[in-house]
Parts: sequence; structure tokens; C-alpha cells
Amino acid sequence: MRHSQQPAQGPLTGSVRVPGDKSISHRAVLFSAMTAGTCEITGVLDSADLRSTIGAVAALGAGVEIRRSRAGALDVTVTGWGQLGPKADDDASIDCGNSGTTARLLLGLLAGHPGDVTLTGDASLSKRPMRRVTEPLARMGAAFDASDNGTLPMTVHGGALRAIDYDMPIASAQVKSAVLLAGLSAQGRTTVREPAASRDHTERLLPAFGVDVGRDIETRACWVDGPARLSPTDVAVPGDPSSAAFLVGAAAIVPGSEVRVTDVALNPTRIGFLRVLERMGADVLIRPGRASGAEPCGELSIRGGRLLTGVLVCASEAPSLIDEVPLLAVVAAMAAGTTRFEGVGELRVKESDRLAAIAQGLTALGVNVRSGDDWLEVDGPTVFRGTTLDSLGDHRLAMAWAVAGLVADGPVTIEGWDAIDVSYPTFAEDLGRLLDGGR
Ligand code: S3P
Repeated sequence: MRHSQQPAQGPLTGSVRVPGDKSISHRAVLFSAMTAGTCEITGVLDSADLRSTIGAVAALGAGVEIRRSRAGALDVTVTGWGQLGPKADDDASIDCGNSGTTARLLLGLLAGHPGDVTLTGDASLSKRPMRRVTEPLARMGAAFDASDNGTLPMTVHGGALRAIDYDMPIASAQVKSAVLLAGLSAQGRTTVREPAASRDHTERLLPAFGVDVGRDIETRACWVDGPARLSPTDVAVPGDPSSAAFLVGAAAIVPGSEVRVTDVALNPTRIGFLRVLERMGADVLIRPGRASGAEPCGELSIRGGRLLTGVLVCASEAPSLIDEVPLLAVVAAMAAGTTRFEGVGELRVKESDRLAAIAQGLTALGVNVRSGDDWLEVDGPTVFRGTTLDSLGDHRLAMAWAVAGLVADGPVTIEGWDAIDVSYPTFAEDLGRLLDGGR
């Protein structure tokens, strides 16, 4: 499917509530499935990635009831497998679709339960690195059958696990979460230490399910004591800042815009993009509101038309904005001077090689851009050329190119537009409503 994004004829105005946070939705569904009771989760993101996680826990024996609440949101009742543990039918395989979070967290969850389960994924997920997860899990005692390069499809042979103390070579919330979930079935304390702070939703949400998570912020360590059981609880999922980023970024570069995003997660490990927009000179206001459980939430206001300038984005802040680099690169091309992103090599192993794809797409839009192994430099300001770009099946690229189309000298056509279903199926409607003045 293709989508032609027309240049904006006027500002974006109005208020919007974006769909539920993808990372929190995955965790709420997975943790609920591990309990021995019933959990009500409201505001779950209704997207292809979440359908993968919901399908997976149902296939592994959890009871799942789904109701659509508002556009883009699901209320999900999950009855967990509890002491029975996850059980798949013989020869059944679990399709994780495009979702790295589903695959990696499931590997950790399944590692500590006797039985063999095969995980598969789409063409993109089948190329993504899994050794970063299977390596620590193997040290704990799990075994895996995978292709030569350690990717999906993969069979997990779960069983009794040993607790480990693990220094992660990369900052990855998926790896950290997988090891902690495995640690829940191991005997003793499982500790994970990361080189930079990745998103901490697992650490914040597990305590709501009755599991203590120890944390030392200074050494970036966290730990669980196993074996531990999860108790049922209810979870309200706040809006996804990574989805909000596309609307916020669009408002920042379309003069006269005034956009408010309500009920959005404001977890500090997720909102690095707001700090960067502020440094560029954008008029962003963060208004903290009532927390959702242990997740800080609130409202964002953004006014467009400020003169933006290029900035340095350091490696230490990369994990807090890694998913927002495609959008930030588009905004950077509208800012005066050079924006340099450092320590963003992880972009090469996301849903696509995002570093290469951003450089290629921006070049086609007429931008001067340079990239290396783990850095990206974008010069601005540029008047984007209307052109045709391929999403490469990557949701965040598709939406970033649509934002560029708003300020281009002609339509920007995006091939593979349906990729947006992975995280933000109602993006075009929400953007259209803001372009219509919030009606
Ligand atoms: C996610 C973690 C991040 C992020 C991904 C979702 C998660 O990846 O890019 O979109 O929900 O844990 P890392 O595992 O590299 O941190």
C-alpha cells in the first residue's frame, strides 16, 4: 500500500491522545499471562506488534478476551497460566511477526519452563540479532536451536535455570528484560548491569505484579530474587511517547502549529527526543500529570514556527531516543546548521537498517547527510523535494517520511505505508485531524 503525503496547507492544531505505549503494552500482557489469576489491562495498543504478543500468550495457555475501547485501543482481560507454566501444543510454533520485543521477552520467559517452543518471525525479525539474548540465557542453563547466525526461527528448550550476574555489552531493554524474566524462574539473585540506561518499564511494572526489583541507578544495575511468582493486578497503559513524537515533530516544523498531546507516558528513559527538540530551540512544554502506576505521565504542548538550530546528540542519550532518530533526523534537516547523532549504531539492527535508510531517504529529499558505523550528520535547513520513498517495511521510517512530506515542495509518496500498523495504525487519521484544526 502507498500513501501520498501532501504538503501541509496550514498549521497543525488541536489536542490528541495517542494510542497506548507499545513497550508497556507488551509487558502488561506478558506479565499478566504469568500470573495465577485474572488481570484487566486497559488502553493496550491495538497494533500488529501487540497482536503478536496477545496471540503468543494465548497460544501458550493464557485466557485472553479482547474488547476494542476507543480507536487504536484495546481492553484486554488475561487469565494467566500460573503454576502450570506456558505450554504450547507439540510442533506448534509461535509467530512473533515483526516484533523484536515479543521475541526477545518470550525467549527470557520461556527459558525457565520445561518444554520446547519454536518462535518464528517475518523477514525483518528473522534477520535481527538474537544472540544478545540467547547468550546470557544459555549461561543460565537454557538451550536453543537456531539457524547458524543465531536468528529466528529458533526453538527454546527451557528448564531449570541458574541465577547470573550479567554485564550487558549493549544497552538494550529487551535483553535486560529477557534476563530478568528468566531470573524469576532461577534460584537466587539474577543481576543485570547495563552500559547506559535503557528504558526501565520492566523494572517499574514487575513490582505491580508483586515482584520486588532491586535497582542501583548509579551502577545501572537491577536484580530479581528467584524463584518468584507474579500476582494478578490491573494495568492502565498510558499513551506512547514514541508515537506522539511524530505529531510533536510535525508541529515543530509546520509554522503556526499548536498541538497538545494528552495522557502520554513521560518516563525519562523515553523522552530524550523532547530534550533534543528543546535544545534545537523548539517551543515544547512538558506538563507532568497523574502517574499511571509507576510510570510518570502527563501532557505535551508544542508550538511550531520557532527557528531551529542543529545540535549534538551524544551517545549517552542515544538509548532514550533511539526509536525517535528517524523523526529527529527529519526535524534536523529543517534546522540551521549540522545535527550530529553519536552512538546510534543500534539503528542498524532495528526493523530495518535505519541508519542507512535515513541517510538514503534524506538524500532523496535533497538533504546533505553523512553517516558512519554508529553516527549520523544532517545539514539544514533544507526545502525537501517531493519524491517517492520506500518504508522498507519499517513503521518509524514510514511516519518520518510522512512528516517530511508536510514541509516538502511537492507530495512525498511512501511505498509500504501499511508498515505503520506495527505501532500506530491510526497515525494518518490523527495527523489529518490536526491538519483540519483538531476537528
Ligand atoms: C524496546 C526496547 C528498545 C526499542 C524497541 C522496544 C522494548 O530496544 O528500540 O522499540 O520494548 O523493550 P532495545 O532492546 O535495543 O533497548
